[in-house]
Amino acid sequence: MITRTDQPEREFEYGWDDFEAVRKLLYASTGISMADSKFQLVYSRLARRLRALKLRSLSDYLRYLEAHREEKEHFVNALTTNLTSFFRESHHFDVLGRFLRENSGRGRRFRLWCAAASTGEEPYSMAMVALESLGSNPPVSIIATDIDSQVLQHAQNGIYTQERCAGLSAARLKQFCLRGRPGSAQAGMVKMRRELQRLIEFRTLNLLSSQWPVEGPFDIIFCRNVMIYFDKPTQLKLLERMIPMLTDDGLYIAGHSESFTNATRLVRLVDRTVYAAVGRG
Ligand SMILES: C[S@@+](CC[C@H](N)C(=O)[O-])C[C@H]1O[C@@H](n2cnc3c(N)ncnc32)[C@H](O)[C@@H]1O
Repeated sequence: MITRTDQPEREFEYGWDDFEAVRKLLYASTGISMADSKFQLVYSRLARRLRALKLRSLSDYLRYLEAHREEKEHFVNALTTNLTSFFRESHHFDVLGRFLRENSGRGRRFRLWCAAASTGEEPYSMAMVALESLGSNPPVSIIATDIDSQVLQHAQNGIYTQERCAGLSAARLKQFCLRGRPGSAQAGMVKMRRELQRLIEFRTLNLLSSQWPVEGPFDIIFCRNVMIYFDKPTQLKLLERMIPMLTDDGLYIAGHSESFTNATRLVRLVDRTVYAAVGRG
């Protein structure tokens, strides 16, 4: 554990003042609040940018950031945590499948929003469930958004290493994915099929910004494992914006460690970390 007085040998100069400046800027631009324990993580994430820009210290980098607005995107991309996987917290995908099957018919089209899509495993898992539940050409559209433009590019390409596909059963791999031929340049890689990609539209979106390039109503909002990076007032403000974007029977799906016991006037728990709007449905 590194304390405020420790100064291990580093390639670039870095101290607590730099860390404070980084966390202030990150909070202002993304809503992400960082604990002291992220001191070392910030250094290792930003060191790559300093190397690329041939800078010598974190304070040089902060000055560079002030002078070059376009660097802000790299700064945010470097500091976001993008951990995700196919069918992560699989019970949520059972909820999605049930919802689609029970409410399909009478020409209903479903609009789903994946609000922190990261590298895409989550929206592709949603698309797989849509096809499994409603057959080919399901009346489903998925808007997948994230603040990090780089992970979204990865998501849009829809190509993953085989290891990243560990959460996919053999049947799903066969039905929904193309595997790179052994010996070819694509060996060891897996590509999502067109029928999945067709259902998903990717857009950059900062949950903190006052303008969102998405419009409700949504039948289900997946907003998982992102609220955890925000403080309670920010979480509440976001819920106040997102819950009215749900259809009357709509669901808001949160991550395993996100709970909204402070928002009982807005949402009620209907399943494990699955919420419905209060006073509707
Ligand atoms: C840990 S990942 C969660 C991915 C996925 N939802 C899951 O549960 O597997 C968190 C994602 O939230 C995104 N994120 C962080 N701050 C954000 C913000 N202010 N607006 C939109 N997305 C944000 C990050 O870029 C990252 O891809």
